[in-house]
Amino acid sequence: MSAKVYPMSDAVKAHARLNPESYQEKYQASIADPEAFWREEGKRISWFSPYSKVKQTSFAPGNIDIQWYSDGTLNACYNCVDRHLPERADKTAIIWEGDEVDVQKHISFRELHESVARFANGLKKLGVKKGDRVAIYMPMVPEAAYAMLACARLGAVHSVIFAGFSPNAIADRVNDCGAKVVITANEGRRGGKVVPLKPNVDKALSNNACESIEHVVVLKHTDTDYPLEANRDIWWHDLIGDCDSDCPPEVMAAEDPLFILYTSGSTGKPKGVVHTTGGYMVYASMTHEYSFDLQENDVYWCAADVGWITGHSYIVYGPLANGTTTLMFEGVPTYPDVSRIGKVVDKHQVTILYTAPTAVRALMAKGNAAAKGSARDSLRLLGSVGEPINPEAWEWYYETIGNSACPVIDTWWQTETGGILIAPFPGATDMKPGSAMLPFFGIKPKLVDNDGKVLEGATDGNLIIEDSWPSQARTLWGDHERFEQTYFSTYKNVYFTGDGARRDEDGHFWITGRVDDVLNVSGHRLGTAEIESALVAHKAVAEAAVVGYPHDLKGQGIYVYVTVVDGVDASDDLLTELVKWVRSELSPIATPDFIQWAPGLPKTRSGKIMRRILRKIACNEHSQLGDTSTLADPSVVDSLIENRLNR
Ligand code: WT7
Repeated sequence: MSAKVYPMSDAVKAHARLNPESYQEKYQASIADPEAFWREEGKRISWFSPYSKVKQTSFAPGNIDIQWYSDGTLNACYNCVDRHLPERADKTAIIWEGDEVDVQKHISFRELHESVARFANGLKKLGVKKGDRVAIYMPMVPEAAYAMLACARLGAVHSVIFAGFSPNAIADRVNDCGAKVVITANEGRRGGKVVPLKPNVDKALSNNACESIEHVVVLKHTDTDYPLEANRDIWWHDLIGDCDSDCPPEVMAAEDPLFILYTSGSTGKPKGVVHTTGGYMVYASMTHEYSFDLQENDVYWCAADVGWITGHSYIVYGPLANGTTTLMFEGVPTYPDVSRIGKVVDKHQVTILYTAPTAVRALMAKGNAAAKGSARDSLRLLGSVGEPINPEAWEWYYETIGNSACPVIDTWWQTETGGILIAPFPGATDMKPGSAMLPFFGIKPKLVDNDGKVLEGATDGNLIIEDSWPSQARTLWGDHERFEQTYFSTYKNVYFTGDGARRDEDGHFWITGRVDDVLNVSGHRLGTAEIESALVAHKAVAEAAVVGYPHDLKGQGIYVYVTVVDGVDASDDLLTELVKWVRSELSPIATPDFIQWAPGLPKTRSGKIMRRILRKIACNEHSQLGDTSTLADPSVVDSLIENRLNR
């Protein structure tokens, strides 16, 4: 199959840091001598005391140990804020675009410094100190970034919880890391609706469900008043009322944790991915610069949420470490209508736009309406992240949003990788719609078969990474064994991504999607087991199995099979109730698209649900069911096929 090739634009080529030859040269150097390569690149970050050690990493079974720059000291907040004050104090650090059309704010690096340091002093008053965990459950407002940076300044480990998560999900995450403080807002705004954040936190903490929490800080973002609990809750503005803006950044070791971010895996319990300070900052800053061919005067807009890794690395830490003007958007691309993104680009003269395929497809579904009312001629580069981008969406994004003038940088990476691992870095390659193209410096991707044999040449396979890179996750919070089990046990001595990929004749990578029990719904990562455990928590549900199927807008949709408890009526009312239940137990992002009543589920004789079969039925591929001879009762399959939804 030969794909259409799009050249990088001349405008980008004219000043790109890389060309195909220099990319190859630098890539080879990074692989031949990682120690020397990263010793040099580590200097892009300001260190309080320099490192002498660079790479000390082991993927050996029983000894997964990843350390970078381990004897250097630094502070992530200092790198994002203080170090820009001499040169960039008056430069805009954050442009905030509110949910409503005419609401915006510009925050200079000087103002950012003042707000972050004051809030850090506020947290100090609450007893927050180095090593403590702080949960952040905030809307997309500048204060979310202040909160993250203030934690980093004090050496407290933040754990941002996406504001779309429900009280149960908050409680699970708070309890897993033993957070001492939750920072939230009374309400968030999204697409013209308000989100009751403080009430969700109250529910999460009710009945003493989160014993580690001592305080809740509440930003007054809307006018609604919610009662504060005495001795526990405090308004953000009251907390900082008497705080000054002198707050020296804590001296942190490179391997001190910077943050925990929970993500979904193939079991029900979310994984607390731990990122540390030094290597993460080096890699986030470097990839941000190279992926987007960053220029000093860029206005850079990553339309993700700080609740996800994209928001951490490419709204907050990477861009701010680079002294970039970063735009934070509170709303959604379709509110008030699909012309919003283009209009925000024009209003703030955005030069780089980085968003997810699911957003592109939502706009594309409305024809050319997304391009109405805006010129978008300030744009120079487009980025894509979070899921495979189908060629149609790629081309529409390129032509309609980018006026056929801006390269689309399709960046493949994961919560666990901390930063971009595979992408068509500007100048380094041309582009093929749907391909993430080539590895970043120091990254050794390989394809293996199910037995772990390395496959060469043009082929499909399971994607592994052979060696460590600086922003690799170090562990799962409190569970190093699960860390090894999840990423280093399927194949020995390498990192397993959980993704499948194809390498074409030119050596370019095409990510084909997850090969484990993880779904990618509108760019959101969800474990099937997580949704199943929410469902079986309902008294009417005896058993549930969740699989993904291709969905035009969302990438993947959620297909659920439910067996009800004996004597319960599998009614339409129950169906509606179960949908509501999942939304409130877990999150609206986990809303099932289809729930099929299943009198029985296909199981092996040892009782294991055969998801492969359920997946085929949901995808309408039941002519290719494969071997069903190991089923305890093969007849359940026929009945499931007969009653299949989604025709
Ligand atoms: C999974 C990671 C990367 C930050 C946001 C998501 C999928 C991500 C791409 C891409 C194809 C992609 C993978 C990966 N994915 N980017 N450009 N092309 N697939 O982070 O929630 O940790 O999810 O998202 O399947 O494993 P995440």
